[in-house]
Amino acid sequence: MSATNSRIPVAIAGTGSYLPKRVMTNKDLESIVDTTDEWITSRTGIKSRHIAAEGENTSDLATEAAKNALENAGIEAADIDLIIVGTITPDTLTPATACYVQHNIGAVKALAFDVSAACSGFLYAMKVAQDMIAAGTYKNALIIGAEKLSAFTNWSDRNTCVLFGDGAGAAILTASKEGQGRILATELGTNGSQTSILNIPGGGSACPTTIANADQKLASLAMQGREVFKHAVNVMKRSAEAVIEEAGLSPENIQQVIPHQANLRIIDAIADRLTIPNDKVFVNLHKYGNTSAAAVAIALDEAHREKKFERGDNIVLVGFGAGLTWAAVAIEW
Ligand code: UT7
Repeated sequence: MSATNSRIPVAIAGTGSYLPKRVMTNKDLESIVDTTDEWITSRTGIKSRHIAAEGENTSDLATEAAKNALENAGIEAADIDLIIVGTITPDTLTPATACYVQHNIGAVKALAFDVSAACSGFLYAMKVAQDMIAAGTYKNALIIGAEKLSAFTNWSDRNTCVLFGDGAGAAILTASKEGQGRILATELGTNGSQTSILNIPGGGSACPTTIANADQKLASLAMQGREVFKHAVNVMKRSAEAVIEEAGLSPENIQQVIPHQANLRIIDAIADRLTIPNDKVFVNLHKYGNTSAAAVAIALDEAHREKKFERGDNIVLVGFGAGLTWAAVAIEW
């Protein structure tokens, strides 16, 4: 699916993020599973990740990120018309995590729902919000990527438990005003033929957790790492290229690429194939690990606050995850 010409141009008016306080380092993991800091660092680039406290839910992380983004945008919660949370670790199967956030921030008039598109969830949310604003249906949208992956991690599986972390990022989308930038191009896609290479097999209606299967930890992330790796490189490269072309950009006039934060080797391979120099590719996975739908959202907020790009600069966001899903967005800031 692809679309460029919004009826009303849509801008990002502000960003925010939140990471839970507790930091778990690679060294800490050495005492939990048979792994080493050296293995994790050389295979992934990850050095530490943040872990939510017991009782601190995905909606709590999302709420803090949302408050941050509202402040950054200078918009009141009461003026938000639409809240979309991208998450695969909702507080409850129903209601949606976005409903808890709506109540927590007091966005009483906002419509609120979740999108489940794994690591592409924040960018899927961005596209849905963009189209609703572009059509004139809503004025101000709050989009959030939020995950408490630690609650869906098998802490005895070294193949996966070293990879993931918790956190949330958010952005406010509005109709673009004089002097503001706009979303230039988006490209989203899904390949449902590869659902088995990255999933949470249990805990849903296909395989509810029962006393008989409880010890198998089926409600945890399972991944065929090498397979996912190959798809991630190919698909993110292709998707980023599609929006770069559609937006009429070239590598020279892109100020920052903000990719999904799963593995430094994936990011380096994409940068190389897109011929974008490493200093124009944002990386924070060494601090947070892979936070799925939150990853691009947190990275966007950090890059924004670190002034990696300014008004008028072009940036490209690109994500990839279970589904398989992918998404890329080119933005004039
Ligand atoms: O966010 C959604 C998208 N996700 C991704 O894009 C992730 C994509 N995949 C990856 O990032 C990488 O495939 C991983 C980081 C998951 C794994 O790296 P790899 O280089 O593909 O390693 P591997 O799975 O092929 O495993 C290599 C070896 C195995 O040992 P043998 O069979 O070669 O003896 C594993 O058992 O490394 C072993 N291993 C570990 N050793 C120490 C796996 N996990 C660990 C560990 N510590 N934590």
